[in-house]
Amino acid sequence: SKTRSLDLAVIPGDGIGPEVVAQALRVLQTVASSSDIDLAQREYPLGADHWRATGETLTEDTMHALRQHDAILFGAVGADPRSTDIPSGLIEREMLLKLRFSFDHYINLRPSKLLPGATSPLSNPGEIDFVVVREGTEGPYVGNGGRLRADTDQEIATEVSLNTAHGVERLVRYAFELAQTRRKKLTLIHKTNVLVNAGKLYSRYFNAIAAEYRDVQTDYLHIDAATIFMTTDPARFDVIVTDNLFGDIITDQAGAITGGIGYAASGNINASGEFPSMFEPVHGSAPDIAGQNIANPTAAILAVALLLKHRGFEAEGAKIEQAVEKDLAQHIGETRSTDAIGDDIIAVLTGEK
Ligand code: NAI
Ligand code: MG
Repeated sequence: SKTRSLDLAVIPGDGIGPEVVAQALRVLQTVASSSDIDLAQREYPLGADHWRATGETLTEDTMHALRQHDAILFGAVGADPRSTDIPSGLIEREMLLKLRFSFDHYINLRPSKLLPGATSPLSNPGEIDFVVVREGTEGPYVGNGGRLRADTDQEIATEVSLNTAHGVERLVRYAFELAQTRRKKLTLIHKTNVLVNAGKLYSRYFNAIAAEYRDVQTDYLHIDAATIFMTTDPARFDVIVTDNLFGDIITDQAGAITGGIGYAASGNINASGEFPSMFEPVHGSAPDIAGQNIANPTAAILAVALLLKHRGFEAEGAKIEQAVEKDLAQHIGETRSTDAIGDDIIAVLTGEK
């Protein structure tokens, strides 16, 4: 009988978003049907195509409806960058950033694992398996700045990095908790030697909270040195905690060394549980390959695994991760269609492969 429930909002979005989300949902249904999860889902048409059809990005009514769900599964939004009918940055600002800030997604969680069968560009990658805990709602991304005497040779442009004690404490605490469930190693990445004010705030909470988690080994790296180790010895990392900007940069590098965009999933998490968290592949809508059934749905499928784990369905999330790894190992070097990858992963889950 179905004793636990999961009520999902699904935002397939544009381009390959709907293609990869379709496979992710098939995988989710397969896992849910053999478990005690009572799965409900409602689809929301949002993104560039939706804006073209309605002139709307994300209304208050839709925000209210989204808020009622347990979690959000998100594909990708955005038009072909060559199209000129959509104001630049409109979808990013009025949709993606609005969701992230309104639902207080203060943890941006990005696991990086070099899966068997995925090809790293590093000649000697080692066993890459780490998670970046990136701050999601503060730092230089808050829009605190402006331009004076714009477009003159006297122009002044500012972008103030905003960091709060509250924001840093909840971030660092989340990272220590996560490290305790893994290999118990936590690295703070910042630039405390130059960005001294924000740096002191991060160091102060990092050191204070470390005293509460004595079983977690701690380390500190400046962001520039971290990019070196990310290429020379990425296996040294277990959990990384960092601010919004450094996290943005380091996770792209992390995605690249683990075989790329087809495998990277992320969670935009409101860890307090006040608002629904949102899980998505890191990639965008890939207009260059949309509609051809060739997009890799693995990142979207791994996003579902993250979502399940976040909602407390640990075993079911782990089952999907294991199925993805087994499937990849069975198909090293093969080119498969979007559907075929979904079929193959489902076959592993049902024990047919
Ligand atoms: P993109 O990630 O969509 O594509 C970059 C390259 O990677 C393309 O060559 C694409 O074909 C390939 N690629 C991406 N995902 C793939 C997959 N699952 N399987 C195989 N190949 C894949 O980034 P791009 O081209 O910069 O952006 C396209 C649109 O997506 C833009 O409108 C952009 O704003 C939007 N975007 C949306 C994001 C989101 O919704 N969170 C994130 C990044 C971009
Ligand atoms: Mg980025």
